Amino acid sequence: MSEYSNAMLPNAKALSPREILMNAASRGIRYRETVAQRSVAPTPEAIRALEDFCRPVPETGGHPREIIDRLDRLGSPATLTMTGGRYFGFVNGGSLPVTVASNWLATAWDQNCALHVMSPVGATLETVALRWTLDVLRLPKDTSGAFVVGATMANFTSLAAARHAVLKRAGWDADEDGLFGAPPITVFVGAEVHATVRRVLGLLGLGRSRPVELEVDTQGRIRTQDLPKITGPAIVCIQAGNVNTGAFDPATEICAWAKEAAAWVHVDGAFGLWARAAPAVARQAEGFERADSWATDAHKWLNVPYDCGIAMVRDEPALRSAMAMSAAYLPPSGVRDPMHYSPDGSRRARAVDVWAAIEFLGRRGIAELVEGCCAHASRMAVRLAEAGHEVLNDVTLNQVLVAFGDDGRTNRVIAGVQADGVCWCGGTRFQGRDAMRISVSSWATTDSDVEESLASILAVAARAKESRGGYRSSR
Ligand SMILES: Cc1ncc(COP(=O)(O)O)c(C=O)c1O
Repeated sequence: MSEYSNAMLPNAKALSPREILMNAASRGIRYRETVAQRSVAPTPEAIRALEDFCRPVPETGGHPREIIDRLDRLGSPATLTMTGGRYFGFVNGGSLPVTVASNWLATAWDQNCALHVMSPVGATLETVALRWTLDVLRLPKDTSGAFVVGATMANFTSLAAARHAVLKRAGWDADEDGLFGAPPITVFVGAEVHATVRRVLGLLGLGRSRPVELEVDTQGRIRTQDLPKITGPAIVCIQAGNVNTGAFDPATEICAWAKEAAAWVHVDGAFGLWARAAPAVARQAEGFERADSWATDAHKWLNVPYDCGIAMVRDEPALRSAMAMSAAYLPPSGVRDPMHYSPDGSRRARAVDVWAAIEFLGRRGIAELVEGCCAHASRMAVRLAEAGHEVLNDVTLNQVLVAFGDDGRTNRVIAGVQADGVCWCGGTRFQGRDAMRISVSSWATTDSDVEESLASILAVAARAKESRGGYRSSR
């Protein structure tokens, strides 16, 4: 045995792994059990207290119990209560308790899921979770894919495969030879393409500003009248779920137009793609199965813990050409090695949580989760409109945009609602207006959460109408 053993780590003998993990588990459980009583936004004092973390590197190591105690004491109050039913910010979703539990267990395993040989369970569950996701989303069965950090990287992974495929058809190997001297690729995006797609296009050398912008309607959907003629290698990026309105591009028409010119169609469906799993709202999401690649998040509407995005690509050879790598220590294995399908190598076994969510909910539970969120969103919209506020979008999914008069007053209401702590909604700018954005995407939201949240929003809006100045919290 070497001179240095684990027993020499500071405090390693002070507590057993059981004591250390039980301490964290019981604190985590207490956190989850008290979400209903917490302010959804942290208080300014809780945020100020974070200063206590900002110390120099300790010269000697600490005690595991004190480390976790301190993390809980300072950290927990400075969280946003995203796991509760009254958080409606940023399309963040919540996390099903069973997926938090699967995540804890997989973290205890500490698997590097890059290769099957490193983690047979991680690799197997990745294959199963991908197959199940495709099935639930009604996408072609023979589609390949990867589990990545989020929809941004899922867009990246898919569009890297797209870049490879369209240039290969033009006789150019982008992955070996790069883009200098390559035939130009024309990229089409809707005028309301998500900012992450532009960022990804920049990373892939296709340019953030270079894409041809297609006109959109009042809900941010691409207009299909007068679509331009496509010549040469081309990629068309469409979206299932506009980040503001939740609207869907008309996929059937766009795919027909693109396919005629052998263009690759990529779908950014970070949250909206899950509408395909929910019969009551699925009609607007039809046609997307004709695309070549799809990006979605499991950490949004499937309600698994952060982070988990999924890239799905029909052309497996294109995905592998863009992503696979070889090295002397990475011999071909004859089984699916996750790292050859995604831009990263070492990674946590994030598909475990997707497997757990689908195993827990089943097809019917996923439909109910999505439909429940949409029903809550439409109730919010109706009640806000009845109270005289202006709902700016057609609420056909889980997103509600509401204005409370002019931009100044709308922003005062948003700040007031956040300070009130009953619920949390963010802001956005939509077609020339500032708006409050309500995104219902958590399993945890109940009817009474909706009622309590509406009461807070309406009371804040009423006070903002009375006073032209700042907003005073009722707490
Ligand atoms: C339509 C759309 N695309 C992409 C993203 C980026 O997702 P992520 O932050 O998980 O990378 C989002 C996030 O809200 C989104 O709504």
